[in-house]
Amino acid sequence: MPRESDHTVPNSAAPETESAETTPESASKPLLAVDTLDVHYGKIHAVRGVSFAVASGEIVSIVGANGAGKSTIMWALTGVVRSSGGRVLWDGEPLPKSPHEVVRKGLALVPERRRLFAPLTVRENLVMGAYLRKDKNVDKDYERIFTLFPVLRQRLGQLAGTLSGGEQQMLAISRALLSAPRMLLFDEPSLGLAPRIVEQLMETIVELRKSGITVLMVEQNAVQALEISDRAHVLEAGALVKGGTGRELLDDPAVRCAYLGEIAQDATA
Ligand SMILES: Nc1ncnc2c1ncn2[C@@H]1O[C@H](COP(=O)(O)OP(=O)(O)OP(=O)(O)O)[C@@H](O)[C@H]1O
Ligand SMILES: [Mg+2]
Repeated sequence: MPRESDHTVPNSAAPETESAETTPESASKPLLAVDTLDVHYGKIHAVRGVSFAVASGEIVSIVGANGAGKSTIMWALTGVVRSSGGRVLWDGEPLPKSPHEVVRKGLALVPERRRLFAPLTVRENLVMGAYLRKDKNVDKDYERIFTLFPVLRQRLGQLAGTLSGGEQQMLAISRALLSAPRMLLFDEPSLGLAPRIVEQLMETIVELRKSGITVLMVEQNAVQALEISDRAHVLEAGALVKGGTGRELLDDPAVRCAYLGEIAQDATA
């Protein structure tokens, strides 16, 4: 599936930085609050003063083009890269900076391109997901996963690298679920999947939210993500430039032009 959008971002005026007023949940205590986050890779300023919040039970998306900084935000949240400024609060407390502490706190990443252990079996990949668990509910969570994705039970002995793209995404989600998260972070979950499989995936994300899991998703192919999102933000060159409900962004001509594959005239009509 081609990833690159050839459309240029239509707003030639300086991007309006999102203000605090655009986050209606900021009045109540959010589960995740990101405040003026900065990340540098040497001289590259990849994430620029990004602020947003996710309330418990929400699905929030960040949409942006190649290189906008989507994965970097996810890596900064999960302790994979160090931020150079700003702070992240989790349930009102500073989020730890080491990846395993972040997982212990209940934040689990479903990474871009799944990042499965390809030469290991499905069973072994799942065991990796539960490696920090000390509680006795792991067996229940395996049952929950096999109810959600029955095909994985049949594939337990199969090497992860030989699964179909859709099955690999199911395994990546299951591995994250086995850490018993309160919030799942999805980095481009639709990448490389057929539209029908993406639709099923989005239905699964909605199901997960119904089961009490909060969702933060970054996506380049934005239509399906926006359709299921309570709120969403647009990320351009490391900065959030626009925010609204998923529906508002879906209906925004500039967003449609830049991220939903529509031609430029539609944006100015
Ligand atoms: N390890 C790194 N070292 C140096 N620069 C990096 C590194 N990782 C990312 N970058 C740069 O940071 C910027 C943001 O990259 P990032 O991977 O976060 O974007 P993205 O929105 O996830 O893109 P994509 O849609 O291609 O996954 C890009 O300019 C990228 O080249
Ligand atoms: Mg990325």
